[in-house]
Amino acid sequence: MTAKTHNEIAAIDPDDIGHNSSPNLSFNDLIASRLSRRHLFGLGVGTAGAALLQACGGGGSGGGFPVLPAAPAPAAAPAPAPAPAAPKLGFTAVAKSLDDVVSVPPGYTATVLYRLGDPIAAGVPAYANDGTDAPATYDKRAGDHHDGMTFFGINASNKWDPANASRGLLAMNHEAITPLFLHPTGQTIVGTGNAAVRSVADEVQREFFLHGVSVIEVNKGASSWSYKQDSSFNRRVHTLTEMTFSGPAANTDYLKTKFSTNGSKTRGTLNNCANGTTPWGTYLTCEENWAGYFRRITATDNPSRSAKEIAAFTRYGVAGTGRELWSTVTPDTADNIYGRWNAQVTGATATEDYRNGANTYGWVVEIDPFTPGSTPKKRTALGRMGHEGACLGPVVAGKPLVWYMGDDSRNEYIYKFVSTKAWDAADINGGLAAGDKYMDDGKLYVAKFNADGTGVWLELKLGVNGITASNPAYAFADAADVVINVRLAADAAGATKMDRPEWTAVNPKTGEVYVTLTNTNAASRPITATDAANPRFYNDPKGVAATAQTGNPNGHIVRFADDGADPAALSFKWDVYLFGARATASADINLSGLVADNDFSSPDGLWFSSVTSGLLWLETDDGAYTDVTNCMLLGAVPGKVGDGAAKTITNVDGATPRTQVTFVGKAPGTDGLRRFLVGPKDCEITGIAESGDGRALFVNIQHPGETTAAANIGSPALFGSHWPEGGNARPRSATVVITKNDGGLIGL
Ligand code: FEO
Ligand code: CA
Ligand code: CA
Ligand code: CA
Repeated sequence: MTAKTHNEIAAIDPDDIGHNSSPNLSFNDLIASRLSRRHLFGLGVGTAGAALLQACGGGGSGGGFPVLPAAPAPAAAPAPAPAPAAPKLGFTAVAKSLDDVVSVPPGYTATVLYRLGDPIAAGVPAYANDGTDAPATYDKRAGDHHDGMTFFGINASNKWDPANASRGLLAMNHEAITPLFLHPTGQTIVGTGNAAVRSVADEVQREFFLHGVSVIEVNKGASSWSYKQDSSFNRRVHTLTEMTFSGPAANTDYLKTKFSTNGSKTRGTLNNCANGTTPWGTYLTCEENWAGYFRRITATDNPSRSAKEIAAFTRYGVAGTGRELWSTVTPDTADNIYGRWNAQVTGATATEDYRNGANTYGWVVEIDPFTPGSTPKKRTALGRMGHEGACLGPVVAGKPLVWYMGDDSRNEYIYKFVSTKAWDAADINGGLAAGDKYMDDGKLYVAKFNADGTGVWLELKLGVNGITASNPAYAFADAADVVINVRLAADAAGATKMDRPEWTAVNPKTGEVYVTLTNTNAASRPITATDAANPRFYNDPKGVAATAQTGNPNGHIVRFADDGADPAALSFKWDVYLFGARATASADINLSGLVADNDFSSPDGLWFSSVTSGLLWLETDDGAYTDVTNCMLLGAVPGKVGDGAAKTITNVDGATPRTQVTFVGKAPGTDGLRRFLVGPKDCEITGIAESGDGRALFVNIQHPGETTAAANIGSPALFGSHWPEGGNARPRSATVVITKNDGGLIGL
C-alpha cells in the first residue's frame, strides 16, 4: 500500500487555476478611447450617505441593518447630506512577524473560540486531534478551514436582533481541509495517477463532514466569549446535507441526477469561501473551488459528451481525478455518497448517473440559521461560478436589493445581482420565503471597466449582449443555460478580466463597492495584457534567493461607485483604492506608498464594520510576502472613488519597460491603513464579524501549517505550525474573538 497525501496528487493550488480562454480584452487594446480626467470622478456621493446603512458579510448590526423606513418620495435634486465623520484608527500598529502566534495591538486580547473538531452537541467528546476521532461524530464537530462568517444577534425570544451585544449565532464557512492532519497519517491512497483510490472509507466520511458550514450559538460571559456546546441552534451543513434549487436553473435537465431525477435538489455544499447576508436575517454561503472535487477523466468521458458540454467543462475546469478522490471509494453506498463525485457518463441517461453533478455546485446558497431543520436553497439566479462572496448593497425600502460578487479565478469577472422586487421591511425574519421573493427573480450583470475610469454593467440574459444561440464560443439555449454557464455568458458580453476577484465590501457611508483582486501571475496576465484596472506587471523577488515572482503577485483593491449612488445603475466610476506591495518596493510597484506599519500582499477578506461606521477591515491570503511576514488583518479608513489621481506607471518585464495609465486612490498613510493582527505560521486570515455593539471582533485563522510536508506527519516537531494548542500539537483552523481590554470599540 502506498500512502500519498493530497499535496502529492494535487500539487496545484486549486485557487490558482484559470480557465478563461475567451478573447475578452484588457483595455490597453481599447485605450485609444482614453478620455480626459474631466470625465472622471465627477460623481457626487453626497446623496448616498443617508441611505446607505448596511455592511455585508460580518453581520452584527451590519447584518443588513439598520434599514431605512421608507424610500423618500423623489423630489428635486436632493441636497447633499453632510459628510459623516470618519472613524479614526486608534491602535498601535502590529509589526510583521513570522512567529507561530496571533499578535494583536497592546490593549487588545485575542482568545481562541472555536477550533477544528470542537464538539457542537451534548455528549460529543473533545477533539483528540490525532486522527483517531470517530468519523460519525464529525457532523457534530467544527469543520476545517474556517472562512467567511456572520454574527446574527439573537434576543431572549430567539429572534434575530442585530444589535444584540452578548448573544448570537455565528454562521461560518469551512472552505476546505488540510488532509494531512485529519487522519492518523494523512490520507490513505492506493495506486497512482488515474488509478489512485481512497482505500479507507472512514477517512472520506470525516472529509465529507469537515466541509460546509457551522451555525453555533455564542455568548459573552463575565470575562470572555464562548460557544454553547449544547445549543439547539447548533448545526452543521456539509457535503451530505440535502439542498433544493430555486431560480432559473431549478427543475431543468441540466440539474437532473440519479439523486434528483427532476433537477429539483442535490446533496451538499462545499468549498464555501466568503459569505453574504440578507436584510431578512439569513446567511449566504458561496461555493468557490468546487470544480476540482469532481472526477472526470477527459479521455474517457469526452467521447460521450456534446461539444457544448465539453466547452462548459473546460470553462469551469471540470477535469481530473477529483482533488480528494472521493468518488474512488468502494464499495459505493446504495445512495452513491461516493459515486456521486464521479461526473462522468456511466449510465444510459442523466437520471441514472451523476454526469450533471458538477452543475449542482457553484452557487450562492441561502441558509436560515434560526431554523436548524430548514433545507438550504441554492439560488441559481445569482449565477454559477467560483463564487467568493455575495455582499449585500445598500438596503432602502422601496428600492431593489443588490448583491455584488467576485468570481475568484485568474482572469474572471465581477458581477452584481439586482432584485426585481423592491425591499419591504415587513420581510425581516421572513426566512427562506423572503429569499424566494428577492433572490429568485432579478437581473444579473457583469462589470466592464473602461480605460477612462468609467465602467458599465452588462446584463447576462438570453438574447442580449451576444448571449444567443449564435454565439460562436457557446450556443446558449435558455435562461438556465445562461446562469449555469454564466462565465461563458460574461465572455460573450465582453466583461473585463480581473486579477482574481475575491471579497466584495460595500461602504455603509457611501455605498461605494470595494473588491479585492488578490494577485495574478505573468502567465495569466503578461505585461502586454495589463489594463487600467489591472495595471501592474513587476517582479517581487522573494527571500534570500530572490526567487522571481512576476505578474501582479501582491494584488490590489479596486473600488467603484454606481452612478447616481444607485446600486441598480448600469454605469459606474472606479479607481484603485490600494495596491499591495512591500514597503521597500519601487515607486511604480508601491503605488499606495505603503510603509512598515501597513504594507501587505494578496488582499482577500474585506469587510466594513457597521458599528464603527465605515471602518474597513482587510485580510490577506498571501504566499508572496511570506518570506517576511505571516498573513494579517489591517484596519483602514478609506476615502472615496476619485480621491487620488490618474497616473502613468512603468511596468517592467525583464529589461522591457511598458507604460500603463491607471487611477490611483489617495495614499492611505498610517492614519488610513494600519496592521492590526498577524496570524500564526502558514495560515490565511479570513472571515470577520462583529458583535452587535462592535466590542467583539470575530476573525478566522485558516489552515495554519498547511504546507507541512507529508513525510513529517510522524515528526510533530517539524509541523509547519502548532497553533493554537502549541507544544507539538497538530495545528487547527480556528475562530478567535478579539476584545479591547477597556471594553471599547475595536479599532478605534
Ligand atoms: Fe477561497 Fe478565493 O478564496
Ligand atoms: Ca478568500
Ligand atoms: Ca484567497
Ligand atoms: Ca483558503
